[in-house]
Amino acid sequence: MPDWLLYTGSRRPHDGIDRLPPPPPWRAFHGGPVLPFPSGGSGNEHQATTYRPSDDAVQQVNAALYLRRPLLVTGPPGTGKSTLAYAVAHELGLGPVLHWPITSRTTLRDGLYQYDPLTRLYAAGRTEAPSEEDIGRYIRLGPLGTALLPYERPRVLLVDEIDKSDIDLPNDLLTIFEKGEYELPELTRRADPSADVMTADGPGSRVTVTAGTVRCHAFPLVVMTSNGEREFPPAFLRRCVTVELRQPSGEAELAAIVREHLGPLADQSDDLVRRFFERSASGTLATDQLLNAVYLCRHAGTEDRRALADRIMPYLSEPIDDD
Ligand SMILES: Nc1ncnc2c1ncn2[C@@H]1O[C@H](COP(=O)(O)OP(=O)(O)OP(=O)(O)O)[C@@H](O)[C@H]1O
Ligand SMILES: [Mg+2]
Repeated sequence: MPDWLLYTGSRRPHDGIDRLPPPPPWRAFHGGPVLPFPSGGSGNEHQATTYRPSDDAVQQVNAALYLRRPLLVTGPPGTGKSTLAYAVAHELGLGPVLHWPITSRTTLRDGLYQYDPLTRLYAAGRTEAPSEEDIGRYIRLGPLGTALLPYERPRVLLVDEIDKSDIDLPNDLLTIFEKGEYELPELTRRADPSADVMTADGPGSRVTVTAGTVRCHAFPLVVMTSNGEREFPPAFLRRCVTVELRQPSGEAELAAIVREHLGPLADQSDDLVRRFFERSASGTLATDQLLNAVYLCRHAGTEDRRALADRIMPYLSEPIDDD
């Protein structure tokens, strides 16, 4: 394993992130005061500890970490695009993954923060001194807004299914990732532009935003996933590190993944692995269909395993016609 790799795909936690060198000069960020890192696991421990990344994925994750660039992960359904984010957070001890699922209605603002003026107005109407009230109670940073807080180590931000977004979102995101900062006008307008706002790490997690601006310190590891339903503009691609995930290339690799997930339940499942592999030559299948089939056949006992497995592993797109 080359020495420069911090994330190795070993699935064992270690402190390799401490060896991350300073950023290239054009990607240095100086936000502060620096915040301590939130404790906790990745948020998806089973997936994180069973993931077997390709060598190319390992390399590109490290490239994104060194270069402080977002990682654009493409590939067919079920190839482990989303899981990669959890696996990196687990191995490098980067805390809970900040998950931002994207739909056609998602805006940049949703990811940055939400401000609840109605509740604030209501509360102000009941207190004697509305100007002194704690505005931070009505501001909650979203996953993107939280990832850009000035943490001492990179947070992991999963921008999941970015290809489903409105046409403007990728470019809006680029601007934020170039600057590594954003402003909260609700705070900058005030005489005192500092507030203890809530974060995406759950109830009770509050941090101080000073001067109405959030500026990152360690640039987050941003994992953006795409099923390839959208072509991204060259200006977007140029600013990302990219990796394309594929289905495991051989039966041995598939069998290793099944064993990783199911342990002894995976004994005597070679026939199903072979069947999955045969069928995947004729149409799209996803690895977790095989995991489901192995699990079910193990419990179904003497049933016709092959027929049952085929029902659990239907093609995800039209099968390729051999004739
Ligand atoms: N290389 C792998 N090693 C171990 N498990 C894997 C691997 N690839 C996929 N899986 C398993 O397959 C399942 C699907 O993975 P995941 O949800 O990350 O895929 P995806 O590419 O994000 O799919 P989609 O495009 O549908 O969102 C998970 O249970 C994951 O653990
Ligand atoms: Mg996914």
